[in-house]
Amino acid sequence: MLKIKVIKDGPLYFFGTFVYLNEEMLSRVMKHDSLAFCRCGRTGRAPFCDESHNSFSFNTQDQLECEYVVTNERPSPEDGSTAVAGIKGGPLHISGPVSLVDERSVIWQGNQVKLCRCGASQMKPFCDGAHKKID
Ligand code: FES
Repeated sequence: MLKIKVIKDGPLYFFGTFVYLNEEMLSRVMKHDSLAFCRCGRTGRAPFCDESHNSFSFNTQDQLECEYVVTNERPSPEDGSTAVAGIKGGPLHISGPVSLVDERSVIWQGNQVKLCRCGASQMKPFCDGAHKKID
């Protein structure tokens, strides 16, 4: 299962093995103990965090405990692994077993989740479609 640590006012740290699909849908297997994905929308080396979140007032107010349902599910890998797709102009769409935990130890688990990476969602770390309203 892919594990993601949600850092308050900072990035998402991915732990484990997953298939990453970039915006051109080219895939590669990634295996990391701690890989930081940007979710503030200001990184200079997308999709990864470059600490740009420290250059402004990035306030996440994470809501892992909220009701969250994914629309437009993506197929999960048949081998039971987890795929992470960087949607062009949109969120990270994760399909397959995944768990998220924040610094309060609130846990969310599921098989489909879209994670905000523009910084504008009002229900972080989840995507609420706010990327469609910003540049
Ligand atoms: S979260 Fe670190 S650069 Fe965006």
